[in-house]
Formats: sequence, structure tokens, C-alpha cells
Amino acid sequence: MSGAPDLATRVIAWQRQHGRQGLPWQGNRDPYRVWLSEVMLQQTQVSTVLDYYARFLARFPDVAALAAAPLDDVLGLWSGLGYYSRARNLHRCAQAVVAEHGGSFPSSAAGLATLPGIGRSTAAAIAAFCFGERVAILDGNVKRVLGRALGFSGDLAEQRQERALWQLAEGLLPAQGVAVYTQGLMDLGATVCLQRRPQCDNCPLRSDCVALAQGRPEAYPVKTRKLKRGRRHNGLLCLWQGDSVWLQQRPGTGVWASLWSLPEAADAQAWEDQCAGWPGEGERLPPFVHVLTHLDWTLEPFVWRLPAGAAAPALPGRWFTRETALQMGLPAPIRKLIS
Ligand code: ADE
Repeated sequence: MSGAPDLATRVIAWQRQHGRQGLPWQGNRDPYRVWLSEVMLQQTQVSTVLDYYARFLARFPDVAALAAAPLDDVLGLWSGLGYYSRARNLHRCAQAVVAEHGGSFPSSAAGLATLPGIGRSTAAAIAAFCFGERVAILDGNVKRVLGRALGFSGDLAEQRQERALWQLAEGLLPAQGVAVYTQGLMDLGATVCLQRRPQCDNCPLRSDCVALAQGRPEAYPVKTRKLKRGRRHNGLLCLWQGDSVWLQQRPGTGVWASLWSLPEAADAQAWEDQCAGWPGEGERLPPFVHVLTHLDWTLEPFVWRLPAGAAAPALPGRWFTRETALQMGLPAPIRKLIS
């Protein structure tokens, strides 16, 4: 055995000194609060999550309150955080905890991972934080930290390689202090072992990081399969009558599932043609590209103002005052368009 402390010991010491402390979801073992924070933090920075987390807990103080709420209320509070499947799964998960687990979260990673929207890594994080269970996490950040430290050159696009890295992650777990260790890996990934320009000078693992020794930390982790991005064009109808705007709820699957949005057609011209038969007047707004995970979506807004007293259009949806519209779960670019 060498004299240098092992990886977990260094991560734990670093977390205590340099990691994140005192965040509202830390220092408590309530699985509901920890679960909520983990889901919010999945694709969103801590600074953004803070406000949403406080508002969410004020409105839904426990899992029963969340399970009983209409999905629209959950989406409304989520509005602006993005990746709305997280909010829909959150709601489904709360309902499963109430209906199938008597209102208490399962107290093991394996049990947690059976719930909607809780993957293996999130389940492990909750179990480590709340129950001190000795289980490995491996989210995107931790794949980077461990992939670099170990110089793991397997292609993570292959399931076999991903499984191999999970096994290595399990082998690195400390005997004690798994919660601090888990938080330390996350904090390292978020603040030091960055995807681009990692701050290796500040890293507790620099003395034997394989990727750094090779002088190419950014080459890890290896993942060959690139996301194939699609493109799409659509026209959006911003239909106003006085201070009211016409919104439609989107279907429960696909882009912006279950959110309220503007009526969509093939392009702005389709709306211009249709509105030509209506009273009132309108104009095109400049098209913009909305970037989604799998899709560059060009949206062409067409504004039409109906005079007071004109009949509502024969379209699915209904009127909302601007103020109530802004309280609904709206996709960020739609919120911008109507506000
Ligand atoms: N990302 C996901 N979970 C996190 C956590 N607990 N702390 C910091 N970043 C995270």
C-alpha cells in the first residue's frame, strides 16, 4: 500500500474544506427534500435551483401535498427550469410513493430506483444522503471525474463499458462517510473537474489523475455516439383579444408535453392565411431558433389581434389573461413572447 491517501479519503477531505456547504437541501435526511433537490439539480445549476426549491417546498411541503396537486400546478411552479419530463415524473413519483408505499419513500437505493423518474444514480445519491447507504453514484459529472482520475478509456456509448465504470465506482467507495464522499464527487464535477478547462490546480486528485498525467484531461470520458440533432420549423399564433391570449395545452408526450403553449401550424404563412378570414389585424414577428436536446426548432410567430366582441376562434384551447397565462407551465420562449 502506498503512503498517499486513497481517492475517497482525498475527496472527503476536499469536500469538507472546499465543497458546497449549507445549501437548503443539505443537512437533512428527509428523502422528500433530498429527492426534490436531486431532481432539480440534474440539469440545472445550484444558483438557479435555490429559488425554485424554496417556492416548491412552500407550496408542496411534503410528498402527499405534491401527489394531491393538479399536474398544471406542478408544471406552473417548474416553469422556466426546463426539461419538463422531470416535473411530470416528479408528480408521478409522488403519486406512486403515496399509492404504493404508504406515503414514505423506500429506504434503499434499489427500492428508490423502482420509482418513476429515479434512475440508478439519483437513487444512490438519495440513499447515500438520507440513509448512509454505501452505494455508488455515476451521473454525467461523476463519469467525468472518475473517467479522468482513472484514465478510463472505454467508450461509454457501449453498455459494457458503462457497466465496467459502475463497477470501478463501487470499488472506490469509502468504508465510512459515503454521504460526504458522494457530495464531494458531485461538487468536484460541478466546480473543478469541468468539461472544458478543468481547474486541475485546485483538484485533490491531481497527483495521480491519469488523464492529467497524460496532459489531456479533456479527452475523457470517451463517448463516441454523438447525439443526432434534428431540425423543425413551425408557425406560432399569438392570438390576442385585449389583454387575453389564446393558449392550448400540448399533448402529454413529445416536446413541451402537457405545457400550455401557442397554437402551432406548419409555418407563419399558414396562420397568416387562416387569419385573413378573421376580423382584426396582425403582423409577423422575427423567427427564432429554440434549441432542444434533440432538435433545433425554428419558430415563426404570427401575431393577430381580434377586436373586442369578436367571436373566439374555432381552435382548441381557451383565453387566458396575460397575468393568469404567466402563472401556467409555459415553455420559456412562449413565456417571453407573451410577456
Ligand atoms: N447535482 C446533482 N446533485 C447534486 C448535489 N447534491 N450537489 C451538487 N450538484 C448536484
